[in-house]
Amino acid sequence: MIVTAEAPGKIILCGEHAVVYGRPAIAVPVSQVSAQVTIEENTTELLIHARDLNRLDRYSDLDPSHPLGAIIRLTLSALGDAAPPNATLTIDSTIPIASGLGSGTAVSTAIVRALAKYFGRNFDAPTVSSLVYEVEKIHHGTPSGIDNTVIAFGQPVFFIRNQSIETFSVPLPFRLIIADTGIHSPTKIAVGDVRKAWEADHVKYEALFDRCGEIARAARSLIESGLPDQLGPLLTDNHRLLREMGVSSPELDTLVGAALNAEALGAKLSGGGRGGNMIALIANESEAQVRGALLNAGAKRVLATVISSQ
Ligand code: MEV
Repeated sequence: MIVTAEAPGKIILCGEHAVVYGRPAIAVPVSQVSAQVTIEENTTELLIHARDLNRLDRYSDLDPSHPLGAIIRLTLSALGDAAPPNATLTIDSTIPIASGLGSGTAVSTAIVRALAKYFGRNFDAPTVSSLVYEVEKIHHGTPSGIDNTVIAFGQPVFFIRNQSIETFSVPLPFRLIIADTGIHSPTKIAVGDVRKAWEADHVKYEALFDRCGEIARAARSLIESGLPDQLGPLLTDNHRLLREMGVSSPELDTLVGAALNAEALGAKLSGGGRGGNMIALIANESEAQVRGALLNAGAKRVLATVISSQ
């Protein structure tokens, strides 16, 4: 028997970091990049083949806190304490790691879906999301849950931690360019640093988070009203707030500046920051210009994506 499953990448449109502190944020799936998992019966035991990392591990050898071992264990338990199958689980991913595009989250999500399929089951999005959230805690420390939510639902989400998950419609699709600084930046570190800074200065950080939350609400309203071309100033303002939080970097600021100089409508870092990716909102006709400016300014890779209701 052989089964396959996949999960898309994601970006945060606005509200990252503030979302950890209960403010709303918007995230959207990015289907140009994805993680794929194949499970094929073998005659030995459960083996995990991470093709990109060139690693082959026995499931039985993995430490319980290892993210791959943990998501498999949690999924088997959700499948009614199923025994690990005699099979090889192969992971392939086109999502760059530690870059704010949800690589680890997408791999976990694809594993849950593939294992469920292998056992003839199909978990709904909230179940997949909550299993993956358990592993996010190993990756990220204090994750808000937005990454596992947007990837499991596969639709734009307006997310408030421990309160609500709302998918919403995008009557007029809009175009974003995503540019990678090439700097690996684990989310856990940026999230931990923001926590320390917040503990040292609640007043300043609460005010920054409030403003990010207002941006997320205003952005949703523009998108739902079919006015996404007016999102630009909100995104750029969100970048300024993230800089004040201390999660930008010279490379991110350079790419944001280059996109704006090339007439992007707005631009910001996306995700944990310090490295990873930035996004720029563009009008169709300026795509080549913005793309060229970002590559000239040092972007290691640039991809364009259209945000729509899926
Ligand atoms: C990471 O994609 C988004 C952060 O807000 C962390 C989180 O929400 O868990 C930086």
